[in-house]
Amino acid sequence: MTMEKKIVAVLGATGQQGGSVVQSLLADPEKYHIRGLTRDINSNKSKGLAAQGVEVVQADVGDAISLERAFEGAHSIYAMTDFWQSMSADVETEQGKAIANIANGLPQLEHFVWASLPDGRALSAGKYSNIFHWQSKAAVAKYIRDSKPRLWGKTIEILFPNYFENCVTNPGVYLPREQSDGTYLRSFCLNGKTSLPNAAISDTGKLVKYLIECGYEYHKRTIAFNSQSIGEIDKLKVLESAYGISVRYEQTSEKVFRESLEAKMGPVTALDFTEQLMIFEGTGMIYDDSAFVQASKLPGLKLKTWEDFVQENNLLSLMQED
Ligand SMILES: NC(=O)c1ccc[n+]([C@@H]2O[C@H](COP(=O)([O-])OP(=O)(O)OC[C@H]3O[C@@H](n4cnc5c(N)ncnc54)[C@H](OP(=O)(O)O)[C@@H]3O)[C@@H](O)[C@H]2O)c1
Repeated sequence: MTMEKKIVAVLGATGQQGGSVVQSLLADPEKYHIRGLTRDINSNKSKGLAAQGVEVVQADVGDAISLERAFEGAHSIYAMTDFWQSMSADVETEQGKAIANIANGLPQLEHFVWASLPDGRALSAGKYSNIFHWQSKAAVAKYIRDSKPRLWGKTIEILFPNYFENCVTNPGVYLPREQSDGTYLRSFCLNGKTSLPNAAISDTGKLVKYLIECGYEYHKRTIAFNSQSIGEIDKLKVLESAYGISVRYEQTSEKVFRESLEAKMGPVTALDFTEQLMIFEGTGMIYDDSAFVQASKLPGLKLKTWEDFVQENNLLSLMQED
């Protein structure tokens, strides 16, 4: 007798988080029917997914009818929103609530994975009150918890880390730069010893598959997706040894860092972006809160470290670009 495949609807299937979920589930073709949601089924990424056997479906988180169609029959939903499209916490909150409202009406749904972030205000006693792209995702989790008990009973909330991959997508902010004398300089707004919660975003799929395959165990739980708490100085040591280079660390002021972002994202989001980093300096490793399940401690799950990531990626060339 053949087992009926479980339909997993993946938001952001063409992106980093959802793309990783798709790739992990594709390793189990007998078990999962993967439905990848995208605004554009004709993009190269969408066509690539279809060629791998993914059912690619048009959906926009701003269009409830398209979401209803895309979630039909789903056994599991991987739900994420992309703050950077609108740079508006209000828009992101509404998108998340719309996703939750539709998921709540699906009787056969067994797992709802929400790609979240913590509310910086709660974790810093109000000191960091401008991390809007965290607040919006946390507000969606609170909405589900407080007003959708049926869906909350199936929800696994994951707090996302600082991606190692940010070095590749945004090397100007996250990597040292080569100087004219051949040495390297890393300028960043944090004390070099301040740790951030880090992980390879390419491990998202490994984590999500693990959690949904644990049945009900992680429902109503918040998972801190942090493979390694590591500061800049320790990250640089790994780069120095991997590439045989010397890197000097320079802490810039919060103000200089924030102002350097303003041209690209405007003053409100530049403050948001800066505070999401400064909170770890002002209040420590908030992802270690005892209320959270630590992904790094889940039995049998091996997440990549910074050293693994550096071995797999040629970051040196990114430090040398103009
Ligand atoms: N970078 C970090 O360190 C970090 C840390 C924690 C959390 N985050 C959060 O991660 C999120 C971004 O995720 P990512 O890194 O996976 O982004 P990404 O690689 O840029 O991909 C964005 C995905 O979102 C989809 N998308 C965008 N707007 C959509 C819409 N209106 N309807 C349906 N799908 C839509 C895109 O699909 P199509 O283009 O195919 O439609 C794409 O697959 C942000 O909200 C950010 O706050 C980032």
